[in-house]
Amino acid sequence: MIIVLLGPPGAGKGTQAKKIEGEFGLTHVATGDLLREAVRRETSLGKQAQDFMLRGRLVPDRIILDLIKNKIRGGASGFLLDGFPRNIIQAEELDELLEAENKKLDLVINLEVNHNEVIDRLNGRVICPECGKTYNVDHFVDEPLVCKDCGSRLSQRSDDNPDAIEERLKVYLRHTLPLIDYYKEKGILLSVSGERSPQEVFHRIVDLLQRVEDVH
Ligand code: AP5
Repeated sequence: MIIVLLGPPGAGKGTQAKKIEGEFGLTHVATGDLLREAVRRETSLGKQAQDFMLRGRLVPDRIILDLIKNKIRGGASGFLLDGFPRNIIQAEELDELLEAENKKLDLVINLEVNHNEVIDRLNGRVICPECGKTYNVDHFVDEPLVCKDCGSRLSQRSDDNPDAIEERLKVYLRHTLPLIDYYKEKGILLSVSGERSPQEVFHRIVDLLQRVEDVH
């Protein structure tokens, strides 16, 4: 299966992707994670992307498409795309890329979360720089901010600040929201409320995916 996870920043795409990949044996491809890794390693791609990311803007399509082509071409047969596509141009390129590989997009899961909730989630998010696990600061009231899995000190993402969050939400509304209609017209969009607990959202997604697998 090839699946796209859609939703505004902070909707829980990364949180759900980590659960889904294990359950369904899909390869999780998150453009944000790939870009952050390139920035951390100070590669040429990372240097080109860094400023766009810090300001909450989209990284230019040609950089993203080079990144994603390498992952999709000749790679695993089942993918979970998180953070890509982000606009209509990227969606059309994805269609072409998959067609050239004799593959097709099976499903787009749209996580619906309201504006104020995503702002609260992004302001409160802390991540583990070592294993990538994500938490909310509220879960550490009387405890040190360290990862419960690997013990590393947790930190905020550099784009989780009020200015960048505001810009990311504007960019989402202008460029990414139109993908909902794009995929609705193709008949492959399923919307799920992302406002329940992570486990409840996951169960709902598993339910949907099992029904899709049964149809295949
Ligand atoms: P990216 O990393 O993709 O960021 P994003 O889309 O802004 O999404 P987030 O990672 O912020 O949120 P998420 O939905 O994964 O939520 P999470 O699970 O972490 O992109 C970053 C930047 O890279 C972009 O701004 C852009 O510059 C660039 N970029 C990336 N892809 C690009 C592309 N294709 N084209 C161009 N540029 C691109 O959860 C958030 C918080 O909420 C966490 O604290 C989590 O613990 C909590 N949480 C999760 N689920 C729940 C729940 N159900 N209830 C309560 N809390 C929850």
